[in-house]
Amino acid sequence: EKNGFDHFMLKEIFEQPNALQKTMTGRFDEESNKVDFQELDWTADKVNNWNKIYIVACGTAYHAGLIGQNAIEELTRIPVSVEIASEFRYRRPIIDENTLVIVVSQSGETADTLAALRQSQKVGAEVLGITNVVGSSIAREADNVILTMAGPEIAVASTKAYTTQVLSFYLLGAYVAQMKEMISDEYREQLVKGIQAIPSQIEEGLEHTKGLQWYAESIKDSKSVFFLGRGLDHAVALEGSLKLKEISYIHSEAYAAGELKHGTLALIEEGTPVIALATQDEVYEKMLGNIEEVKARGAQVMGVATEGNMKIYQYVDETCYIPATLSLLTPLLSVVPLQIISYYTALALGKDIDKPRNLAKSVTVE
Ligand code: M6R
Repeated sequence: EKNGFDHFMLKEIFEQPNALQKTMTGRFDEESNKVDFQELDWTADKVNNWNKIYIVACGTAYHAGLIGQNAIEELTRIPVSVEIASEFRYRRPIIDENTLVIVVSQSGETADTLAALRQSQKVGAEVLGITNVVGSSIAREADNVILTMAGPEIAVASTKAYTTQVLSFYLLGAYVAQMKEMISDEYREQLVKGIQAIPSQIEEGLEHTKGLQWYAESIKDSKSVFFLGRGLDHAVALEGSLKLKEISYIHSEAYAAGELKHGTLALIEEGTPVIALATQDEVYEKMLGNIEEVKARGAQVMGVATEGNMKIYQYVDETCYIPATLSLLTPLLSVVPLQIISYYTALALGKDIDKPRNLAKSVTVE
């Protein structure tokens, strides 16, 4: 059932174009090109009353939430906070009937996320569940549900569940913006076109993974690996770092590149691998500056940039290009090489990729 792949993780990475296609199927009205969520029972009145959104999740789903925060704020201008479920449930978050709480969980069974859902409902907040599992506790208990349609994810390390959650957030952001009449037809069209191009763009990227395999082998004996980025790239850096430590057991950290000087730079030594994401146009020059800072301390830098951004060549030791898309959508493309790098690093180290030590696929206890 691994379909010729050595591990479920690799199979699931390669399933992403298909899974994303499924996530978006039926979500666009063919005539108007508007985003359609027939399963949501929201009225314009209800949506207009929300003055705050919380996104609550654990692990990789939390990282998808960070992208969701960016997308929803950008598209709807409603303030969004993202919280780790085990933190959210033990404090007194300020939520009421005018708050939308979005809980995100591949399995739909994560104990802390489920508790956050129940607590939010108790104080009258509307809860939307984003999950991959039909009939899961979260799917049953949330007021509304978006199913990510990724198909079964077997590997403990989450890949296609993450990208389908991220896509669900883009669609949701556009949908709420439509309801609030805050998105121009022109921008919506750009966004929809951009989204529709993603599956084939990922496929394109997956045709050239040899270089990444070679790179993975070159970092396998490192003591520590750093992931840097700004904005959406920082959120993707967090996910890349989690993936690497989860299956290769190499220590890694993700940093907002602008924070380097505030402590982390002290950890960079001769030869320390740094994966620097530089896909965001608005902060591209700033990222190049940060790359210079780590290079000056001896770091070996792999730059992840958008095709056509040739300048980065002069700054890094190697480059991984992703196809061009809207700035907002880059996470769907830039996370894939990071998944591949962690896979091949773990493979080179002979680790148990689909079942990393100490971890379970579904965390149903606190
Ligand atoms: O089923 P969930 O999405 O609620 O699971 C949340 C985390 O346990 C999960 O994403 C975990 O971080 C992954 N193993 C990361 O690859």
